[in-house]
Amino acid sequence: MMPRVAIYPGSFDPVTNGHLDVITRALSIVDRVIVAIAFNVNKQGLFPPERRAALLREVLAGEPRVEVETFSGLLVDYVTHRQASTIIRGLRAVADFEYEFQMALMNRRLAPAVDTLFLMTDERFFYVSSSLVREISALGGDVGQFVPPPVQRALEARRGVSPSG
Ligand code: PNS
Repeated sequence: MMPRVAIYPGSFDPVTNGHLDVITRALSIVDRVIVAIAFNVNKQGLFPPERRAALLREVLAGEPRVEVETFSGLLVDYVTHRQASTIIRGLRAVADFEYEFQMALMNRRLAPAVDTLFLMTDERFFYVSSSLVREISALGGDVGQFVPPPVQRALEARRGVSPSG
């Protein structure tokens, strides 16, 4: 049987414990997960995509069934290029639903053979988002309970530095 491969796309700026929870759940369903960091030239973010990838690789070093890559262009093109047919997305509260629903249906329209699989994060992570983590850290708050230690260190190192990518 062909191994079942799923693509978990996102910005991951930075990866949070909520993302890691989704990856763990995905690994109980599929054989391999490719974490795909979207490279968006119009949206620089706090960490450049390669740095986000390096942090993800460090955090996921003990998990041989996970691969981390960056991609640019359309997600469905990347999914097809990687010969996968499943996109994983995490769902938190109701607020995520409309955006996720729209993206999933648009991706299905663009690539009918590709399906999106939604996984609900543990309720401990329902309110955790990369953007809130960035803001709390920039304002001197402790984000240790929301992100893995390498990410916390990276955020602390960047504290006080303006987001220029
Ligand atoms: O973590 P995010 O920022 O919610 O992830 C959004 C992401 C990267 C999955 C989405 O913006 C995306 O798929 N970008 C790639 C470009 C693309 O395919 N756009 C059309 C989506 S219907």
